[in-house]
Amino acid sequence: VMAAQKLMRAVRVFQFGGPEVLKLQSDVAIPSPKDFEVLIKVHACGVNPVETYIRSGTYSRKPVLPYTPGSDVAGVIEAVGDNVSAFKKGDRVFTTATISGGYAEYALAADHTVYKLPEKLDFKQGAAIGIPYFSAYRALIHSARAKAGETVLVHGASGGVGIAVCQIARAYGLKVLGTASTEEGQKIVLQNGAHEVFNHREVNYIDKIKKSVGEKGIDVIIEMLANVNLDKDLSLVSRGGRIIIVGSRGTVEINPRDILVKECSVMGVTFFSSTKEEFRQFAAALQAGMEIGWLKPVIGPQYPLEKVAQAHENIIHGSGAAGKMILLL
Ligand SMILES: NC(=O)c1ccc[n+]([C@@H]2O[C@H](COP(=O)([O-])OP(=O)(O)OC[C@H]3O[C@@H](n4cnc5c(N)ncnc54)[C@H](OP(=O)(O)O)[C@@H]3O)[C@@H](O)[C@H]2O)c1
Repeated sequence: VMAAQKLMRAVRVFQFGGPEVLKLQSDVAIPSPKDFEVLIKVHACGVNPVETYIRSGTYSRKPVLPYTPGSDVAGVIEAVGDNVSAFKKGDRVFTTATISGGYAEYALAADHTVYKLPEKLDFKQGAAIGIPYFSAYRALIHSARAKAGETVLVHGASGGVGIAVCQIARAYGLKVLGTASTEEGQKIVLQNGAHEVFNHREVNYIDKIKKSVGEKGIDVIIEMLANVNLDKDLSLVSRGGRIIIVGSRGTVEINPRDILVKECSVMGVTFFSSTKEEFRQFAAALQAGMEIGWLKPVIGPQYPLEKVAQAHENIIHGSGAAGKMILLL
């Protein structure tokens, strides 16, 4: 007779659809780690917009149903599989991916997607690192090749990725401009590396940015909502500047002549395209940031697992970001 399998609470998705397809179950089997895998007792899990796109079934990456969403967990190693040398039971860690899903009490992860969480960061902050900071680093350093002394506009700076870009850009010696729509969001942007903040809901904010940066324009623009802003970015970018599209939720009309005249670049960034070697590289830079102290995630709305549907609703239709959204286990 087999021993009864241990059970846990976990969010399960049985069909693609709206936030209501997120079902909290209390009888999900706790997985056990195989070769090169670890089992993590989850304390917090980041909620990312991409998890709503995947849940709706319209995203290019479709998991096999049923599945548990969530890739950015922070917690403690509960068990390790064979051939795991970097971690032991009791280690504090965070992840950039999970095998079994992060919206759960326990999550299985491949060891190369797990990183030590320094003592000075709590589990909530650990859950805010994964997709946001690795995407921010990829966008600003890997893709835009931003250099000290250059100017960056973080177009959408108050959320998970935007705050990360502001912190990295400031640490790397850039002049940092950010945008946010609420007073609280703007305050957070200024407290996290931005020299100046603008309100992207104000009618004349693009003129204000132009006035601030002058004729030369902006060297690097990290864009969170390209379908709304790409034409504006083309008017702000410098000669030979780089516009990096991190987020886009629709179509937009632009005049390609703007690109031609300025000889600027418009590039896309996808977190999931990073190679293992790139992940190692980005992790080393981010680890240094945690140790030195410039990498300090700002936590926004927090939800218990029971409120996961509300969290998914609010990350898309909320009234203004002010830090990283997380689930607390
Ligand atoms: N390509 C990738 O690999 C990748 C990775 C991570 C995220 N993303 C995408 O990047 C976007 C941001 O992700 P996140 O995790 O930071 O989301 P988030 O925490 O929900 O933040 C959303 C951000 O977008 C801003 N925003 C809203 N309306 C805007 C506008 N008209 N112009 C400029 N910014 C605007 C928000 O500002 P206010 O709330 O203050 O208005 C907020 O700063 C999402 O679309 C996400 O899917 C892509």
